[in-house]
Amino acid sequence: MKETVILGVDTSCDDTGVGVVRGGRVVANVVASQTALHTAYGGVMPEQASREHLSVIDTVLTRALLEADVTLDDVTHVAATYGPGLVGALLVGLTYAKGLAWARGLPFVPVHHLEGHIASALGASALGASALGASSLTENAEPPFLCLIASGGHTSLFDVRAWGDYGELGRSRDDAAGEAFDKAARLLGLGYPGGPALGRLAATGDPDAYPFTLPLRGQKGFDFSFSGLKTAVSVLLQRQPDADKADVAASFEHAIVESLVRTTLRAAAATGYGTLVVAGGVAANLRLRERLQETPLTVRVPPFELATDNGAMIALAAHARLQAGLDEGDLSVDATPYLPLSDASRTRDESARS
Ligand code: KG4
Ligand code: ZN
Repeated sequence: MKETVILGVDTSCDDTGVGVVRGGRVVANVVASQTALHTAYGGVMPEQASREHLSVIDTVLTRALLEADVTLDDVTHVAATYGPGLVGALLVGLTYAKGLAWARGLPFVPVHHLEGHIASALGASALGASALGASSLTENAEPPFLCLIASGGHTSLFDVRAWGDYGELGRSRDDAAGEAFDKAARLLGLGYPGGPALGRLAATGDPDAYPFTLPLRGQKGFDFSFSGLKTAVSVLLQRQPDADKADVAASFEHAIVESLVRTTLRAAAATGYGTLVVAGGVAANLRLRERLQETPLTVRVPPFELATDNGAMIALAAHARLQAGLDEGDLSVDATPYLPLSDASRTRDESARS
């Protein structure tokens, strides 16, 4: 079979990402961040996000092709996120990618955004040592494994039985972990998105200064809840306006990390998995990475540049789907803002029937 050159597009939220995966390896990953645009509002403005995607997507594609050292003639498949996400934002990348596939007569692979995050763990060998500095955490992982996705929009534990075959073990009942980081960072006056800034400040503080109660202690399941921690930070800052911000940040980060890690460890024990993939923007959190390395699990995290939203992870997911013999999708797929990952869990047989 001819070597595949897969173009992956993600415009689910506020980053315009186009990546190229050639023969299973990431050869380009270009992301145009909209952070500066949304900082003034303290969060993502959906309409502004869609317009910005539209104005930069051509340039992002051109840069990705240059970085990959390929032309459109070399591309064998086009993949794009079709959900979940902001509908206007999704529509831009999805329509652009479908149009490209149609015009060039190429197969189109629709990808679930979270499937992309899971597949980002496949990007390690391509970018790992050079982009990151060698790390034992960044080696490729093949299913089956347990997967913790912690991003700005989702926090879930998945049983990844095979590519395209996912079972959700638990999820956040309210805020996602990244969302909680962002909200706490805002309370601390750290700007948007606050996760990375809060992590940096936390590194200088005492994580035991303010012992926040861990959420959902005693539950039998594997759910998460983070909105109470954000409220605890708010109440603390109202009662003690002079509280040391680094200590508050460190204590808050400690509580989030402990909650994520302890629930994940219980899920690993219940499922019997020894390998854990951690993906999503919060996978970039250094304290989380350190804490996970202390556990008996074999932990795999994507390189930093593949942890937050990007197009390469969408191309990696498409590659994994094609390798697994799953459907190549079709051009009729629509942007779907609410989309459980179980809807992407289709086998070739199932897709042939539908
Ligand atoms: O996966 P992602 O790029 O976008 C979504 O799909 O949501 O995740 C973005 C989230 C933001 O909430 C951001 O604050 C958080 O990931 N984040 C972090 C760190 N880097 C990004 N949170 C904590 N520590 C970090 N180093
Ligand atoms: Zn994401």
